[in-house]
Amino acid sequence: MKKLVILSGAGMSAESGVSTFRDSGGLWEKHRVEDVATPEAFERTPEMVLNFYNQRRRQLLECKPNEGHYGLAALEKEFDVDIITQNVDDLHERAGSANVLHLHGELMKVCPVNDVNTTYNIPPDNPDINWGDTDASGNQLRPFIVWFGEAVPMIEPAIKIVEQSDILVIIGTSLNVYPAAGLLNYARKGRPVFLIDPKEVNTYRNDIHFIKAGASEGVKQLSELLQRL
Ligand code: APR
Repeated sequence: MKKLVILSGAGMSAESGVSTFRDSGGLWEKHRVEDVATPEAFERTPEMVLNFYNQRRRQLLECKPNEGHYGLAALEKEFDVDIITQNVDDLHERAGSANVLHLHGELMKVCPVNDVNTTYNIPPDNPDINWGDTDASGNQLRPFIVWFGEAVPMIEPAIKIVEQSDILVIIGTSLNVYPAAGLLNYARKGRPVFLIDPKEVNTYRNDIHFIKAGASEGVKQLSELLQRL
């Protein structure tokens, strides 16, 4: 089976009702990223940051995977599929994708402030984390999210996956944020690269097959193109 690697970003979930970052004038759900998605913001105003992610989590629980997510899950019948996502939502998993690596953390997980390697699942029926909520040892809990300025530990395994890919597909990312955007550099020369996005995305490569469409329609077109490879 050929190894098909997907790199997804916020646009993957746009049709599920999760808003993208850079389409909304640099604001994320009416907040500046520096006010809600940095370790400094959490130190300054922890309750505000926790509340922001509580809202995002509640919003996610109302969302469903879209045809694009389901289409990628269906490709597992014919390909060895790995998904590397910048998204913190769990919509790929809910659509049935088996191998999902989250580069920027997971909204439905929590970790103690002093140990980002220990995570706990957040129950959907009690999805809020509040200031004062701790693990068994008394450490404050924080969202399991890679904030701006923090290390991206999953980048190393992600590079290995991309290096092994036979086909790379990029969906719904502006390729603005590193190190995720740099993953394209690791695709082996001569292997096909597809990019699905309703808008032009700047890349330094001129051999990319651009599918100008949203995620649902784009994954449908991709599935047809893959039959002919
Ligand atoms: N289908 C596919 N792509 C879409 C759709 C859609 N329906 N709607 C919009 N897009 C595209 C946009 O044209 C844009 O190219 O999705 C892309 C979204 O880009 P960004 O908002 O920059 O999101 P992303 O690249 O995932 O951001 C990377 O930045 O804010 C941080 O950590 C956060 O993981 C995030 C990272």
